[in-house]
Amino acid sequence: MKRISLTQHLIEEQRLNNTIPAELRLLIEVVARACKTISHAVGKGALGEVMGTAETENVQGEVQKKLDIISNDILLEANEWGGHLAAMASEEMESIHPIPNRYPKGEYLLLFDPLDGSSNIDVNVSIGTIFSVLKAPEGMATPTEQDFLQPGTMQVAAGYAVYGPQTVLVLTTGNGVQCFTLDREMGSWVMTQNAAKIPAETKEFAINTSNARHWHAPVKRYIDELLAGKTGPRGKDYNMRWIASMVADVHRILTRGGVFMYPADARDPDKPGKLRLMYEANPMAFIVEQAGGIATDGKRRILDIQPEKLHQRVAVFLGSREEVERVTSYHGDAADSTLLSGK
Ligand code: AHG
Ligand code: MN
Ligand code: MN
Repeated sequence: MKRISLTQHLIEEQRLNNTIPAELRLLIEVVARACKTISHAVGKGALGEVMGTAETENVQGEVQKKLDIISNDILLEANEWGGHLAAMASEEMESIHPIPNRYPKGEYLLLFDPLDGSSNIDVNVSIGTIFSVLKAPEGMATPTEQDFLQPGTMQVAAGYAVYGPQTVLVLTTGNGVQCFTLDREMGSWVMTQNAAKIPAETKEFAINTSNARHWHAPVKRYIDELLAGKTGPRGKDYNMRWIASMVADVHRILTRGGVFMYPADARDPDKPGKLRLMYEANPMAFIVEQAGGIATDGKRRILDIQPEKLHQRVAVFLGSREEVERVTSYHGDAADSTLLSGK
């Protein structure tokens, strides 16, 4: 089998399809290299200084794990000096991180969740990194948070790395979805799937059912129907999986279909869901749509949402088209066919 490396893929995209400018290619290579470094740190486990909790909290009031901080530092350091970025933003940093003056600046903005699925670190279950790339607004002098507040449709690239039994990088630059497996001996990313597609139908769903008592009526109705199985209104038995790492759950859905949900619920009206729009929901929604699936917040297409804050949260329903359309339609009027078709 002919091996296509990430570098070759990106160069061919740049040359043949003209979808990737040279600076964006560099950016993706640098992020991929940082993910390789994070994968290495993850793999050390208890043999390295990577397990357990740090003494700090992030801006969302979550206790940081050592690996949250290590991964954040790896991504910052890797991306500071290349000249391809104007600024970065991260789940682990309250404010944006402009490129220091000692380095040249580029025209891209990079957002990331450096370590997704933190609760799985210490128990040796799959975790990952999620990233999203935007273009800095025309004429921007000094980057501000405002410059990042662009809807997901403006993303020029998005991806995630999943650190599981294999380390896999999943990427889109708006021309389908490609998967690259890390060849650990060679240290290179090798394409193992081109044009990944999510089947329109599925029998598998992912939601944290321990929150069931807090769910709103449309989510309750939808899940009750799935649980009713063959003799219920859906006429088939469904299976459930919940890894509690969005990367790993989305990767399963990309591989064999399914629907992933983290809905808003009745607990805190100021907290619309748990996941963050700009560096979790948007990049995943871009990938899912590029693979033929859809992603909504129950009412709107996620990629159309105008962000108001860097760290804002959003309800997420994504994956196989038929299921996401149905659960979205249960949320009522706002769900119309234009939004669902992702046009
Ligand atoms: P993070 O570790 O970056 O804070 O994200 C964790 C997220 C997401 O990956 C996962 O789907 C969800 O939290 C799991 O939440 P529960 O623990 O509530 O199931
Ligand atoms: Mn996360
Ligand atoms: Mn995280």
